[in-house]
Amino acid sequence: MGQNSLTITDNRTGKTYELPIEHGAIRAADLRAIKTDPDDFGLMSYDPAFMNTASCSSRITMIDGDKGILLYRGYPVEQLAERANFLEVAYLLIYGELPTTTQLAQWIHEITHHTMIHENVKKFIDGFHYDAHPMGILVSTVAALSTFYPDARQVNDAKSRELQIRRLIAKMPTLAAFAYRHRMGLPYAYPDNDLSYCGNFLNMLFRMSESKYAPNPILERALDVLFILHADHEQNCSTSAMRTAGSSQTDPYSAVAAATAALYGPLHGGANEAVLHMLREIGSTNRIPDYIKRVKAGELKLMGFGHRVYKNYDPRAKIIKKVADSVFEVTGRSDLLDIALELERIALQDDYFIGRKLYPNVDFYSGIIYEAMGFPISMFTVLFAIPRTAGWLAQWLELVNDAEQKIARPRQIYLGPARRDFVAITERG
Ligand code: ACO
Repeated sequence: MGQNSLTITDNRTGKTYELPIEHGAIRAADLRAIKTDPDDFGLMSYDPAFMNTASCSSRITMIDGDKGILLYRGYPVEQLAERANFLEVAYLLIYGELPTTTQLAQWIHEITHHTMIHENVKKFIDGFHYDAHPMGILVSTVAALSTFYPDARQVNDAKSRELQIRRLIAKMPTLAAFAYRHRMGLPYAYPDNDLSYCGNFLNMLFRMSESKYAPNPILERALDVLFILHADHEQNCSTSAMRTAGSSQTDPYSAVAAATAALYGPLHGGANEAVLHMLREIGSTNRIPDYIKRVKAGELKLMGFGHRVYKNYDPRAKIIKKVADSVFEVTGRSDLLDIALELERIALQDDYFIGRKLYPNVDFYSGIIYEAMGFPISMFTVLFAIPRTAGWLAQWLELVNDAEQKIARPRQIYLGPARRDFVAITERG
């Protein structure tokens, strides 16, 4: 097999095996040939939390965590954030190439004309308690969309997939905005087809009695850039949920609901919400050293710091800091920014954080910007779910078209009791 192989000696049997190495990986299934006897199941790899397991091959997003590099289809995220708009990036993620002028116009037209939701979805949202968390509403309503589009179950039909992709990218902002209006006790504001993707989203959120909503162009662009930065991030927790659910050939609405649920948690998309709570709890810069002490003692985590993949500054966090400047010129400076900047300065000089390679991630500054733009904290994770839908769908499409993929089904190492007989309730100790 030559140089591109791994030679393993099983010391239990003395046998030697040679496994091929491709793209820096061995196939875990090849380990199954390593047995102690013919009845042995064969060797497995044990990898809780998938710390070192590639579950797919992908051509969508590349991250070099040590160098702090993020590429979408080969394009550096910094260039896309500066020169493209979100729907252009969504097209790139899904189809693999930047759209031509005609393709982009057609794509924008189609997304814009799928933003309405069935009136019955409104009734569904009405049923939620007045203070229901918008992420809870989003998870439920996006799953509910599958019942409105039963054609979505034809996941092997390319035409149907194309339609559902457009519907999902178009309707996520509408569901999110309606969830917000419900929580605020405001009437739902319908989509305005004259506005951009982000401009229309701001319209559905913040329009009051004016006959035509005019989004602030700086805030509209800032949101667009934030959407680009959040659009995809390879095989993270929510994307893995999307792929796992999708692997059973469930419809894409149900799979996006699964991914949205995974994003909801504070260790993933919920971190931006947690950062704001943390900054408020700290309250002033003179209380930072005390807070850092508690973090180092293991009492707390510094939310918005650390990343499974980035062991260098998250490139998205750098761009977000610049976006913050443009937003604060419109909205005025947030007091929390001073606390965040000081927290970052102190943490980045501290051996605890240096030694563990803990740097600010995308969520460290995004929450402060969202708050300055007038979003309540509970909407922060929703603002992550909307653009990430494009990434989830790109990954789902790749999965559906990947002949190597099957229903996802990890193995386990069973450590429970061996077979034993049932004990009647009267005889249990
Ligand atoms: N604050 C303090 N210590 C931390 C932090 C943090 N934010 N993150 C990691 N550490 C410490 C751990 O305690 C551990 O220390 P130890 O070696 O002494 O035990 C070490 O750094 C390694 O951390 P792990 O937990 O092994 O790292 P993992 O890759 O499993 O976790 C995660 C990554 C979940 C992002 C973690 O850094 C974290 O909880 N961060 C805060 C939440 C957050 O900001 N999440 C957003 C992630 S980005 C996103 O999803 C968009």
